[in-house]
Amino acid sequence: MNIIHHTAHRNLNLGTETAFSVLARANKLASEGKKIINLGIGQPDFQTPEHIVEAGIKALRDGHHGYTQSTGIPQLRETVSDDIERRHKVNISPDQILIVPGGKVIIFFSAMLMGEKNKEILYPNPGFPIYESAINYSGAKAVPYKLSEDMGFSFSADDILKKINKNTSLIIINSPANPTGGVVPKIELEKLAKGLQEYPNVVLMSDEIYDQFCFGEDNFTTMLSFPEIRDRLIILNGWSKTYAMTGWRLGYGIFPVKLYEIAEKLAVNIHSCVNASAQFAALEALKGPQDCVSHMNNTFKKRAEIMYTQLNEIEGFTCQKPKGAFYCFPNITETNKSATEIQNILLDQIGVATVAGTSFGKFGEGYIRLSCANSEEAIEEAILRIKTTF
Ligand SMILES: Cc1ncc(COP(=O)(O)O)c(C=O)c1O
Repeated sequence: MNIIHHTAHRNLNLGTETAFSVLARANKLASEGKKIINLGIGQPDFQTPEHIVEAGIKALRDGHHGYTQSTGIPQLRETVSDDIERRHKVNISPDQILIVPGGKVIIFFSAMLMGEKNKEILYPNPGFPIYESAINYSGAKAVPYKLSEDMGFSFSADDILKKINKNTSLIIINSPANPTGGVVPKIELEKLAKGLQEYPNVVLMSDEIYDQFCFGEDNFTTMLSFPEIRDRLIILNGWSKTYAMTGWRLGYGIFPVKLYEIAEKLAVNIHSCVNASAQFAALEALKGPQDCVSHMNNTFKKRAEIMYTQLNEIEGFTCQKPKGAFYCFPNITETNKSATEIQNILLDQIGVATVAGTSFGKFGEGYIRLSCANSEEAIEEAILRIKTTF
């Protein structure tokens, strides 16, 4: 008997995040002595700031070793609410905030809340691959909307609104975006919020995990700015990128009052609560000095500038200037090779780890993603290696 044939059928629908397998391959090559430059990673190359680490250690020493409230410690939910008030001038009750082990959890929760057979969920493509995977797992139909280069990898609200039908239950958006570095202008977000007035049963999930990495052209706008959709808006955010805390596994969701109870039940069923000491570190992250955030933003901005300028000097590559997050997403169609071929050539022949655009959905063909989460020297060396190959 092959046990795999007896597993639940829905597991066939699970996708994955190829960035992790590129990382594993890059590490293997490095362990064999190859000099690898890793531009495949989706996490800041900074350490978590010292005062945040100390707060986590102190929490452990102070005896915070047990379960916490499944929704998160009350002082953290209050502080997230204050942070939103400070940054966006929007009042959100702590009772709508759910602390979770990583922003990714909110994607899964949204898909579980709104997705099932005969429902449709719209999502960005190319986009973070977990959207499509979670939608498929929920049993709903995953309906991509294209982020195209000629629109600066933004979306048109009209295009999304046109795709809504009676089965549509959820729309996922992400700005600043992984993998494209695109930022959706406020006017499109406003149009989307207004257009959704006609579809009162459609929930919107806005993934704002890169909100503090914006390079100043199209500034970040939170969907919380539009009161008309707040009663069916889910926000995904967290500490992973903003405070270089990917390994702490910390994130939060803001849920409409009516959906909160189900989200809380999902949390109780799946993870009980978030690591207690990590929650105290998260508290310090929001309450302590914020210069670490602006330092990272300025650093990513400078590296993105270097990277996209130099990518444009490579034969067969053209690259738009990223507006946020920390990725460049050059068009490589003129090389006459597929995204996966380019990804493999770069890693196997010249030791540069990148991620094929197709890892982010079918509309990612013709592109590769390079992360700015590496030093300027490493970025320049990587691009030099690429230049000598093409
Ligand atoms: C767009 C996007 N959303 C969510 C996440 C997940 O973040 P976390 O590590 O907090 O789960 C990522 C991580 O790469 C991401 O790129």
